[in-house]
Amino acid sequence: MDCCCYFDILAIILGAYVLIPKILEIVEVINHSFMFKQYDIKTRYYGKDSWALITGCTSGIGEEIAHRLGSFGFNLILVSRIADFAKNGETLELYDDIYNKIKDLDLAILVNNAGVNTRNYIKDTPLKDIMEMVIVNTYPYTFLTHKLLSKLKERQSKSAIITISSSITVNPAAFDAIYGCTKIFELFTMEGLRLENKDQKNLDFLIINPAYVSTNNARLHPGSQVETTQTFVDSLFKALGNTQMTFGTPKHCINGFVLKLMSGLTANFNAYHFLSERIISKLANQMWEKRT
Ligand SMILES: NC(=O)c1ccc[n+]([C@@H]2O[C@H](COP(=O)([O-])OP(=O)(O)OC[C@H]3O[C@@H](n4cnc5c(N)ncnc54)[C@H](OP(=O)(O)O)[C@@H]3O)[C@@H](O)[C@H]2O)c1
Repeated sequence: MDCCCYFDILAIILGAYVLIPKILEIVEVINHSFMFKQYDIKTRYYGKDSWALITGCTSGIGEEIAHRLGSFGFNLILVSRIADFAKNGETLELYDDIYNKIKDLDLAILVNNAGVNTRNYIKDTPLKDIMEMVIVNTYPYTFLTHKLLSKLKERQSKSAIITISSSITVNPAAFDAIYGCTKIFELFTMEGLRLENKDQKNLDFLIINPAYVSTNNARLHPGSQVETTQTFVDSLFKALGNTQMTFGTPKHCINGFVLKLMSGLTANFNAYHFLSERIISKLANQMWEKRT
């Protein structure tokens, strides 16, 4: 075999190494966007008198999930500001208290949703706000799931743990730096937990990583890049039981695919350096101003 032939083989191997994962990602985008058939959530998870617990249910995504689960026939445990995670979230007593209140109920679904985002430069964010964000976005997810896991596992019918993370987990980003860390904390914790429990056929895990959804958190109106809570929650219930991780709606899946492509560039060429601090700052300001 001559030298050219070796180069040809090497080029084919390298090409396949780069292209195959991308082709698989495109197949995943199509699958997650259009191919899921929603399970009948009632018959998949419902047991007589069963319950769903949702954190952060007073607005946005959590509120819509609560309405939906109510309409499916679940009894609801709504954990909201009264449990103020920012003030009490790092005390184990809070989680003991929640557990003791619900320990005799047949819990079928846990939705880890409550979250905050300060969206600003680290240097311009008060330390107190950073501290609250870190606590609210990480401790309740971890501690509540830890406390409730065995209850969910011991059910005869199926159970589910749904975690709202974020597409920010794909790339580190200015303005959302620490928020992004909290979201990757959630994602790694829940994905690790899923792997630890992969033999539990009766327990479905779903980690969903939305891009923008029009809520108090995003401060954006629905639009070309921004989903309504209804559309986003539609995609969540379509994905439940069909996959363990998704970006959500077709828009979000495409957005996630592009972010992952960017992430490759960032790793190799540090592409973010092309975006000056001024441009990023302008974009972020526009986002805050868009809301009336
Ligand atoms: N919207 C997006 O574009 C987007 C994108 C990616 C990920 N997410 C994630 O989606 C989840 C829901 O956010 P959202 O967009 O629906 O925002 P949202 O409308 O602001 O809802 C957040 C929920 O969390 C609750 N919460 C906040 N701080 C709390 C605290 N200290 N103690 C107890 N509850 C607290 C809020 O209660 P109050 O109403 O009392 O404040 C509210 O019910 C979050 O985890 C967020 O990170 C959102």
